[in-house]
Amino acid sequence: MTYQGLIHRYRQYLDLPAHTQIISLNEGNTPLIPMPRLGREFGCELFIKFEGLNPTGSFKDRGMTAAISEAVGRGAKTVICASTGNTAASAAAYAARAGLRSIVLIPEGKVAVGKLAGAIAYGAEVIQIQGSFDDALTLVVEITQKTPIALVNSINPYRIEGQKTSPFEICDELGSAPDWLCLPVGNAGNITSYWAGFKQYQKGLPHILGVQAEGAAPLVLGHPVDKPETIATAIRIGKPARGEQALEAAHESNGKIIAVSDAQILGAQRILASEGVWVEPASAAGLAGLVAETSRGSLDAKGKRIVIVCTGHGMKDPSIITESFTSPKLIPASYQALVDVIGE
Ligand code: F0G
Repeated sequence: MTYQGLIHRYRQYLDLPAHTQIISLNEGNTPLIPMPRLGREFGCELFIKFEGLNPTGSFKDRGMTAAISEAVGRGAKTVICASTGNTAASAAAYAARAGLRSIVLIPEGKVAVGKLAGAIAYGAEVIQIQGSFDDALTLVVEITQKTPIALVNSINPYRIEGQKTSPFEICDELGSAPDWLCLPVGNAGNITSYWAGFKQYQKGLPHILGVQAEGAAPLVLGHPVDKPETIATAIRIGKPARGEQALEAAHESNGKIIAVSDAQILGAQRILASEGVWVEPASAAGLAGLVAETSRGSLDAKGKRIVIVCTGHGMKDPSIITESFTSPKLIPASYQALVDVIGE
């Protein structure tokens, strides 16, 4: 049978109401890429779950197919979300597919160009807020309490249901859960989903390493951060909606939530690209966390099976790369000039 998206494949494991009408872009089914060379450096068996290969370029499509399918089934006409960019693009795409109006609130000037372009291309009404993601989330919660507009942020329980399918896929492919699962943490919906998914699927439980950016690390500091700052704009969040559940996942799994610097994140992004996997900065946080933990001796990777979740594609945030490179060499269109420049 051809692949028809993750609700079709995993419906029996997803707590979705009977009125759900499936809206799908054949999301999910993303590759689990073996990383033998990098794995050797840690002495472990290493895989990347490349969520950047979902239809709109991030893992958000897993939760969005579920949230939009439920919203359509109950007759919603308009959906809204607050977003650092990826949720916006995903909501816009699935709303377009379903014929719904989509409104997205983003923090002023802090959304990567590939995400903003996506949201606009899919036809969302994009509104910038003079404030942070957290301020935008407060506003969309209020408006959805007072109007029939449907909320599609990960406070929406169906988002969590959809996102549980990534741990299902990992278990199906490996035969069991890995020893460690490393992933970035922003609003904390994804870590919550992974932990719920692994528990439900009963194919073993990983330790979870959740990774925040140093300038936006409320779960590490133990208090909200008023003005979160990080180059990894996807996780520039100071007051995670599912913070408690994230801490629980780390605690119950005998894992942890740590913070890494922007330099460590960019370093991990370069390492991944050198292995042929280009991810946006936030998506490199999982590897940055693994590097930090193993190099200070607080995580023993030796002989373990480890999965790093890379949540979004590098093409989401091209400026991070293009702002720091020098333009490609320009040569005359002659064979000799080519030989001269490549020196062979
Ligand atoms: N990685 C990427 C690429 C993201 O876009 C996000 C969140 C995360 C990780 C963190 O996931 O919030 O479930 O802990 N992006 C949201 C958005 C906030 O609006 O697109 P989380």
